[in-house]
Amino acid sequence: MFPRDFAWGAATAAYQIEGGWQAGGKGPSIWDTFCLEKGRVFGDQNGDVACNSYELWEKDLECIRQLGLTHYRFSLSWSRLLPDGTTQHVNQKGVQYYNKVINDLVACNVSPMVTLYHFDLPQALQDQGGWKSPSIANLFDSYAKFCFQTFGDRVKLWITINEPYVCAKLGHEDGIHAPGLKEPGTAAYLVGHNMLRAHAMAWHSYNHDYRKEQKGWVSLAVNSDWAEPLNTHCKEDVAATERYLAFTLGWFTWPVFVTGDYPEIMRSAIEAQSKKLGFNGGPRLPSFSKDEPTVLGTADFFALNYYTSRKVKKGESCGNILCMKSDRDAGDVLDPSWPICGVSWLAVVPDGLRKLLKYIKETFDNPAVYITENGFSQVGTLQIEDDQRSKFYKDTLLEVAKAIQEDEVNVCGYFAWSLMDNFEWSDGYSVRFGLYHVDFNDGKLSRTMYQSGREYAKIILKHKLDQ
Ligand code: FCB
Repeated sequence: MFPRDFAWGAATAAYQIEGGWQAGGKGPSIWDTFCLEKGRVFGDQNGDVACNSYELWEKDLECIRQLGLTHYRFSLSWSRLLPDGTTQHVNQKGVQYYNKVINDLVACNVSPMVTLYHFDLPQALQDQGGWKSPSIANLFDSYAKFCFQTFGDRVKLWITINEPYVCAKLGHEDGIHAPGLKEPGTAAYLVGHNMLRAHAMAWHSYNHDYRKEQKGWVSLAVNSDWAEPLNTHCKEDVAATERYLAFTLGWFTWPVFVTGDYPEIMRSAIEAQSKKLGFNGGPRLPSFSKDEPTVLGTADFFALNYYTSRKVKKGESCGNILCMKSDRDAGDVLDPSWPICGVSWLAVVPDGLRKLLKYIKETFDNPAVYITENGFSQVGTLQIEDDQRSKFYKDTLLEVAKAIQEDEVNVCGYFAWSLMDNFEWSDGYSVRFGLYHVDFNDGKLSRTMYQSGREYAKIILKHKLDQ
């Protein structure tokens, strides 16, 4: 049912699980700073300790082994390796920590997929302008080269940047993620642009200096909902859906996979809105310089984070204000038939994933696809027997199997989000995505497998789904 070498994985991210925020020479990141500000995160919680994977890594490894994963996706904390963000000061204890993680995985026959950047910029670099500053691309490239050099003999799957959309929009337009900036209409496009430049430089460095010897694959992980017109017969809804997809999936994939530039629909919508509002601060969506290495073709596979779907209708902009929502001019709603799981943004739509995979195959010339995140959240009363989540994984993997068999999408692997309950950004510990429950109050951070973990382990073992 699944290809023989299909990757069965689970994913985590450094800030969400490691803790050890000041341990072993780690420098502060923007999430450390953000959490110190009152009112930013649910209950003013933070990732100071989180799942304490910095000290309890071996417990995580045990979880990975019990599930029977073939792959484990985790991220490196840039400021644990390079406390001030630059390669001038390397923190050897950080290098040792990740070497142990990688060596232990390899010894257990689990392939690491390593994310270089999952939302936690070194604070020292934020102080110099962060992702808004053009020089960040070179700094990221140096960090990436350092990681390829240090870990690339054992790591063959790399993600440069996780969800540039989320970093750009939630971090710099909405202000609900670190660094908490609210600069609607301009900052997110600039940040997204510098992230693409940084990604492309790192891919070229790998391609030029490491690929021959290390033989790995490098990509960036994009998040995208599947989107459909609310009324398929209404032309305006159809056009709004195209704009919606251009501003989410298209923003980062058109440059990398299709044209080397942003989707035309996106550029013209932004220009029209600037004109309408009389904005005269120059083009808000930057252009790629001919003097820099091209961004086109800088992905060896397609890395997709999929969580939910949307129905899209015309309008619902924020009116005459400068912001991405107004530029996009497309309202998104949930279909009332879709169940909501935990958080309000998360409707459970497994077949949306199949549709999105088919769209990716057709739009991006049949790339190798890894589903690098997909999951189901729980809030409120704890349920170890989480039958809804178990059903979710079975339903979703059935759609993935259909995408592979019937639509012939080249899906190479699936990573459940997440290995264990963890710090869910501005929702703190109130939202749980784990295959393992973590007891944040027992003084031991005990990990207990949920029923959904048992189901996932069964599927992995059989390599197929029971119908
Ligand atoms: C994604 C993030 C991941 C996690 C899930 C629920 O956007 O990449 O860290 O928070 O959402």
